[in-house]
Amino acid sequence: MKDIINILCREGDKSEIVIGSLADEFETLLPKDKPRTIIITDAKVHANNLDFVNAHEHIVIGQGESSKTFIKIEDVYRQLLAMGADRSTFVIGMGGGIVTDITGFVASTYMRGVRFAFLPTTLLGQVDASIGGKNGVNLDGYKNIIGVFSQPSFVLCDPALLNSLSDREFRAGLAEVVKAAVIGDTGLFTLLEKHSFEEIRSDTELLHEIILRAIKVKTSIVERDQHEYGERRKLNLGHTFAHAIEKSFSNMSHGEAVAVGICMICNAAVRAGRLDAATSSRIINLIERLGLPVEPPVDIKQLLIFTRADKKREGDSIYIVYPTAIGNCSAEKTHIDELDSIFMPET
Ligand SMILES: NC(=O)c1ccc[n+]([C@@H]2O[C@H](COP(=O)([O-])OP(=O)(O)OC[C@H]3O[C@@H](n4cnc5c(N)ncnc54)[C@H](O)[C@@H]3O)[C@@H](O)[C@H]2O)c1
Ligand SMILES: [Zn+2]
Repeated sequence: MKDIINILCREGDKSEIVIGSLADEFETLLPKDKPRTIIITDAKVHANNLDFVNAHEHIVIGQGESSKTFIKIEDVYRQLLAMGADRSTFVIGMGGGIVTDITGFVASTYMRGVRFAFLPTTLLGQVDASIGGKNGVNLDGYKNIIGVFSQPSFVLCDPALLNSLSDREFRAGLAEVVKAAVIGDTGLFTLLEKHSFEEIRSDTELLHEIILRAIKVKTSIVERDQHEYGERRKLNLGHTFAHAIEKSFSNMSHGEAVAVGICMICNAAVRAGRLDAATSSRIINLIERLGLPVEPPVDIKQLLIFTRADKKREGDSIYIVYPTAIGNCSAEKTHIDELDSIFMPET
């Protein structure tokens, strides 16, 4: 089974997303000028894909958010230099969102930019982090605050690579799938409602369709707004609180925090009369049924303090993305002084 989605970049370049088998598609996707290829990966993904990675020159980086910092990525630039990588080198990020974010940023800045591609190996990476051309690193606890918009030449998503993920990591990716469905695909939402977590994990065709549909929601928005001046803000549904939750409660992964963030904004949207209670319940029930958390792990007051410092803040305002129906949402510019009354109505 194979599907192809093309993203037209603003600069006129084409970025190709392929959902298919690594073994069948990889060689044919490489640039026709047969450049020198270097894979960037982490130790776990390397161990899981020894033959494939070892067949190429490669750099192994650390795992976790602390690897996505300047200090750590300096070492990646040094290794590229030591290997003699030049402007014609083709760099491939194989791993989760951490690896692809670092690879995209390093490749876009090394020698003012070399061509690159992604082989995402987490569900979150396949449906979200590797798609859309945002490549960022962290600074002083601010996530993705330094980065570039730059599209990979191709993204190859092989659903079979996800077999080695733990259930917890797989669920984290499903949170971004639910986000995509709520933002823009009613059919994807009902598909998720119809199937259990176990069915989604084990049914190859179903998983392929879910990945394809989630990617399409993101690419259709990104094509209209590559640099996040308008519609792309919708992709931050649930993320303002997700960032705050990750910061204040490090035991939660990004995807788990997104799940909680979506539930919190559903409740706020109902209170504000933007979403009907039945639809909100449907969204929260689906998240819960997939085994994801629905309640914030810390006091909302504490989350609001972090949220006020969110990088998406523009002056005294912040964009809040409200779901308005399944498959629809709207980003509203909101003064930070209004946050307390929106999220803590009793105060
Ligand atoms: N650029 C974007 O648009 C964008 C969008 C969403 C998220 N992100 C970023 O993505 C990152 C999170 O990505 P993630 O959830 O993929 O986390 P991750 O990259 O940390 O991967 C999670 C863990 O799974 C392991 N792993 C990867 N593939 C595996 C596999 N197939 N089998 C077993 N283990 C595997 C990794 O080694 C790692 O330990 C965050 O830093 C977030 O900011 C970026
Ligand atoms: Zn996310």
